[in-house]
Amino acid sequence: MSRQPNHLNPLECSQQALKWIMSDTLSAEDVAALNKETLDAFRDYVNPGFLEYRKSVTTGGSYGAVEWRANSPNTLLDTQGNEYLDCLGGYGIFSVGHRNPTVLAAVEKQLSKQPLHSQELLDPLRAMLAKTLAAITPGKLKYSFFGNSGTESVEAALKLAKAYQFPRGKFSFIATHGAFHGKSLGALSATAKPAFRKPFMPLLPGFHHVPFGDIEAMKKKVKQCHKNGEGIAAVILEPIQGEGGVILPPEQYLPAVRALCDEIGALLILDEVQTGMGRTGKMFACEHYGVQPDILCLAKALGGGVMPIGATVATEEVFSVLFENPFLHTTTFGGNPLACAAALATVNVLLRDQLPEKAAENGTFLLNGLKKLAANYPELIVEARGMGLLQAIEFQENEIGYTFASELFRQRILVAGTLNNAKSVRIEPPLTITREQCGHVLLTVEQVLAKLQAQREKGVEEASASVTEEML
Ligand SMILES: Cc1ncc(COP(=O)(O)O)c(C=O)c1O
Repeated sequence: MSRQPNHLNPLECSQQALKWIMSDTLSAEDVAALNKETLDAFRDYVNPGFLEYRKSVTTGGSYGAVEWRANSPNTLLDTQGNEYLDCLGGYGIFSVGHRNPTVLAAVEKQLSKQPLHSQELLDPLRAMLAKTLAAITPGKLKYSFFGNSGTESVEAALKLAKAYQFPRGKFSFIATHGAFHGKSLGALSATAKPAFRKPFMPLLPGFHHVPFGDIEAMKKKVKQCHKNGEGIAAVILEPIQGEGGVILPPEQYLPAVRALCDEIGALLILDEVQTGMGRTGKMFACEHYGVQPDILCLAKALGGGVMPIGATVATEEVFSVLFENPFLHTTTFGGNPLACAAALATVNVLLRDQLPEKAAENGTFLLNGLKKLAANYPELIVEARGMGLLQAIEFQENEIGYTFASELFRQRILVAGTLNNAKSVRIEPPLTITREQCGHVLLTVEQVLAKLQAQREKGVEEASASVTEEML
């Protein structure tokens, strides 16, 4: 039997960690010890590779920036007391703000009663959440399956589509270039980034990718598939591509995809893991386009930034393939009481505080400002784009984007690249961000761009001076 190295004492390790968990404040020695412990353990036991990528390490001083606590709805603190304005939103999970009091209260109360379910008695919160989702999701979407992540929502959607189309002899899927749907083998088959896919080939058979936003390309692919005797089970799409770099489709694209699916008897799966729950200025991005999917994938912000939860919501016609044997697709923790309490409170807060509407208003203000800045710095920026509070700045080069994000980090504003498009830096704050905070972001972005432009001009001057020197 393999044993842990002698110097590791699990009782001591866990005791030390519990001490830090239970502390409200840290002494200077605690800060140094906790930072060192975190960095060392990341390197030795999590994955040293992360340390190369995280701006919090490369930009955060000798031990990197180590997070400590949420400080307000839109800010968080590191162990050294630095406060960051969160314009990353945990890749879109903090829509109702950090530690939203309504969500916290619901989760804490449920925690004190029963955190996880018996698996035998009927769990009421799962029932109430499914009913609530049926009430807020568009069209005939009605039944919900709950998992613990976006990937699981997509996995369930693909399996539902397969089971529904099995008797019809349709097994293939159409997805899009630049798409991100998660990294389990099924979800990865729909995800498009070569670097994420290559080491795991071959993935699931029958997945075809076409350019996002191009309905003619999709029609052509359908024709080719039909010529080969391949029926299309479903088309899977993000209404606005998030990790692809916040790519908006042409206005008529989603309605045209819906019409094509109806014509050929394919299901439409919309992955709103990132765009859902008010992020784009409506509860669901598909509402901007007047399109109703057969299956909708949700996660991220659904748990209110407190609990992980994913949901796959489908029409009765599609979901009924699971009626006869509900054990066809299950997961132990899916729909647990803590996660459902968080999601129910989240929906309540989104509606009560009109956060989708606020995302639309503040999003327009922020985006207009970013667009103006983009126009002033064409050598650095290709464009600023987005909808609601899902926004991105596309830089001319990856390097400029990374330097920009690192510089904003130094100015205590969190932003990050997108997974499938390194040139694009995302701005995805909690929907609770204030107008004043948006103004602060714009001012800081302007200062950072001015600095990058000055560095660039200096670099060009120095390069031309050295060429002149060489010529002389
Ligand atoms: C559109 C979309 N689908 C699926 C996923 C995967 O979600 P998770 O990371 O929770 O598994 C993501 C994550 O970024 C996403 O943006």
